[in-house]
Amino acid sequence: MRTLVKHILHRGEAMENLHVAGWVRTRRDSKAFSFIELNDGSCLGNLQIVVDAEVPGYGEIAKMTTGASIEVHGKLVPSPAAGQKWEMHAQGVRLVGSAPEDYPLQKKGHTVEFMRSIAHLRPRANLYGAVFRVRSRMAYAIHRFFQQRDFIYVHTPVITASDCEGAGEMFRVTTLPDDKIARETEDFFGKRAYLTVSGQLEGETFACALSNIYTFGPTFRAENSNTARHAAEFWMIEPEVAFCDLTGDMDLAEEMVRFLVTEMLENQEGDLTIFEKFVDKGLRERLEFVATRPFERISYSEAVELLKAGGAKFEYPVEYGLNLQSEHERWLTETHFKKPVTVFNYPKEIKPFYMRLNDDGRTVTAMDVLVPGIGEIIGGSQREERLDVLLENFAHHGLDADTYGWYADLRKYGSVPHAGFGLGFERLLMFVTGMANIRDVIPFARTPGHCEF
Ligand code: 4AD
Ligand code: MG
Repeated sequence: MRTLVKHILHRGEAMENLHVAGWVRTRRDSKAFSFIELNDGSCLGNLQIVVDAEVPGYGEIAKMTTGASIEVHGKLVPSPAAGQKWEMHAQGVRLVGSAPEDYPLQKKGHTVEFMRSIAHLRPRANLYGAVFRVRSRMAYAIHRFFQQRDFIYVHTPVITASDCEGAGEMFRVTTLPDDKIARETEDFFGKRAYLTVSGQLEGETFACALSNIYTFGPTFRAENSNTARHAAEFWMIEPEVAFCDLTGDMDLAEEMVRFLVTEMLENQEGDLTIFEKFVDKGLRERLEFVATRPFERISYSEAVELLKAGGAKFEYPVEYGLNLQSEHERWLTETHFKKPVTVFNYPKEIKPFYMRLNDDGRTVTAMDVLVPGIGEIIGGSQREERLDVLLENFAHHGLDADTYGWYADLRKYGSVPHAGFGLGFERLLMFVTGMANIRDVIPFARTPGHCEF
C-alpha cells in the first residue's frame, strides 16, 4: 500500500518498507547517487529521496525529470543534512510517466494569468495545491459547523423556474433547437427553466418544516461583470432558521465566519505558511484578529453617514437609497473600523422581494457581512412571513403569483418568522488565503468569455 507523504512527514519516525508515489519536483545527481524531491499533493512538503546508483530502477533516473511521476520503495531515516528532518532511502524506483522538457511548470514564478491558462496542471504548483486543499478542508468545516449544531443538509435543485434574487441574471436551460428557442411551452419542462441563482426559496420550505437547515451547492449568475470577486458559477452555503429574527441571523453569520477563520488558523498541512510567504504577509495577523474580536454592527443609514463624513474620494456616489459599492464596503472595513462589519436594515428599493419589511415602512431586515480585502462575503435577511405583505411585494416586483404560489403557501399554513443568509464559498476562500482573484480559488473558473477545460 502506498503511503501519503503527508502521513510520513506527520509521523516523523523511522519506518521500513515504505511505498510512495508522486511527481518529481527536482532532481540533483552526484556521482554515486541522486536526490529527488517528491511531492504527491497530500501536503505542501516534499519528501527528499536518496537514490543510490545501485538501486533497481536507477537506470531510468535520467527520465525522472521535473513533472515526471515515479514510484519508490524504501525506508525513512533521519536526514543528516539541513532542510529536512527525515529522508527516504530508496531500495527501488520506477518511472511511471515521463515529462518531456516542455512541461510548463519547470520554473517557479509564473504569473497567475499564465497559471489560469494551464488550469489542468496548476494544482501541481505549491500555491494552488495549497488553495485546493484549503478549499476541501473549508467545505468539510462548513458541514461540521452545521452538523454540530443539528442543522439539516438540504439539496436544493440546480434547475429551477424561479429567480430568487429577482435580478434577471439567470442562465437559461433548454433542449429546444436553435430555430425554436422561443417556443417555451414545447421545451423540456413545458416552460422556461434556468440554472439557479440561489437555493434560498426552496431552503425556506425545509426550514419551515425541519427548523434549522443549510444548503451547500453550486449557483449560477449571468452577471456580465468582469471583476476579481464575481464568477458565473460559484458555490454558496445558505442556512435558514425557523423562529429566528435578524439579530439571530447576524449572530449565526458572524459565528460561522469566526469558526471558519479559526479552522484556517489551525490548518495542519502547512498551507497557511505559503500564503503568508507569497500572497499576503499580514494574513495570519488578520485572521487572528477576526477570530478573536467582535464584528462591528451598523445600520445602512449609519454606514451612509460615516461614508459621507469620512472625506474619502470614491468613484461611485454615496447617497441614501443607493447600493454600497465594493470601494465603500472596503473603506468601512479597512479604513474606518479595521475589522469585519455587519450592515443591516437596507432601503427596501434595493433589496429582493422576500425580505421582511421593517415597521418604518422604508427599510427591510437585510444584512451583509463585509470583510477587509473583499467587501461582502455574506448577504442575508429575515424573511417576510406575513402573507399580505408578501403578496404586495410580489406585485411590486412584478412576480407572477402563480409561479411563486408554493412560496406564498408557507405563509398561509403555519407561518413562522424565519431568517437565513448566503455565504459565497469562493469569497470566503479568498479571505482565508489572501488570494486576490476569485479565478484562482476555483478549480476551473467560469467567467464571461471563459469556459475552457
Ligand atoms: O447577496 P446574495 O445575492 O444573496 C443571496 O443569494 C441570498 N438568496 C442568500 C440567502 O439569504 N440565502 O449572495 C450571497 C453571497 C454574496 O454575499 C457573495 O458572497 C456571493 O454569494 N456571491 C458571489 N460569489 C461569487 N460570484 C458571484 N457572482 C456572486 N454573487 C454573489
Ligand atoms: Mg448580496
